[in-house]
Amino acid sequence: MSDFHIVFLPGDGIGPEVTASAQRVLEAVGARFAHNFHFATKLIGGAAIDATGEPLPADTVDACRKSDAVFLGAVGGPNWDGDKRRPEEGLLGIRKALGLFANLRPVAASDALLPLSPLKPEIVRGVDLLIVRELTGGAYFGAKTRDAQSASDLCVYTVPEIERVTRVAFDAARQRHGSVISVDKANVMETSRLWRETVNRLHQSEYPDCRLEHMLVDTAAMRLIQRPRDFDVLLTENMFGDILSDEASMLAGSIGLLGSASLGAGKPGLFEPIHGSAPDIAGQDRANPGGAIEAVGMLLSYGLNLHKEADAVKAALSSALEGGRGTQDLERKDSCTVFTAAVIAAI
Ligand code: IPM
Ligand code: MG
Repeated sequence: MSDFHIVFLPGDGIGPEVTASAQRVLEAVGARFAHNFHFATKLIGGAAIDATGEPLPADTVDACRKSDAVFLGAVGGPNWDGDKRRPEEGLLGIRKALGLFANLRPVAASDALLPLSPLKPEIVRGVDLLIVRELTGGAYFGAKTRDAQSASDLCVYTVPEIERVTRVAFDAARQRHGSVISVDKANVMETSRLWRETVNRLHQSEYPDCRLEHMLVDTAAMRLIQRPRDFDVLLTENMFGDILSDEASMLAGSIGLLGSASLGAGKPGLFEPIHGSAPDIAGQDRANPGGAIEAVGMLLSYGLNLHKEADAVKAALSSALEGGRGTQDLERKDSCTVFTAAVIAAI
């Protein structure tokens, strides 16, 4: 019997609904594999602004720091559009506070869901790629300026920042098919030229057994929908990774199915579905909890080193989907809670 402390950050929109699903799945894993999960729920995003005036209260950061893993639902929504503080500051703040520099977003096309992709089945069949996105640098975190006539977001990368995320990508490639495509804009941006040189140097010195290709981000955007099977590990900087990962989600059929892991040098990691807060369907029990359940699988494997437990969650999710279960975004009929129950029944 082992004890694990998990902090839930439900956030906004459909965040609380999919977080409730994630918690139920973890409870089922605890019962089946005899683990003691201890749960705490804390404020983030718009919900935190409403309650405290701050998108990331100090108490939330403290609880996350002491935990074994953090699960986040989603942040943001039109309710806070005019506000001085933005809900997204909460998510960016917790990434920075926990030092979560590497964001892993796996995208796989399952045969049962091929008809849902807007792309032809012969293009998406067999897609299995991993996006490794740098998460605490670049234009997201550089100095910002704003006056009436101009605005700027400084994009900065240092060699150590590039090196540590590059190692995550090559280490992942060694567990997969040994190939990394590093995406940049080296024909225009200085940060991209430093990125490319650094990735090349690390490839030669530490990972000569892996294959490395460099691709410009505009080409990568095209190749992801033209020849998505060419990608094994796609390594890129923060903003390019944000954009390309939403594009890549269409290969899997629905953005509602994808989970992600944000990792730093130690514990805890943060695990979340990659979809947003979907305010249009919030509170209606219509959200797809698949991405949240996928993120629970990643929390178990990457966060807690519980690999057979993670496999059980992934297998239960696949078997529910292959059995024709699923929410409306998958052109199926289950509510969020009913689909969650179907997955739990298979655990
Ligand atoms: C994501 C989201 C966030 C990001 C937003 C909500 C700040 O789009 O995790 O991809 O841009 O990183
Ligand atoms: Mg995004």
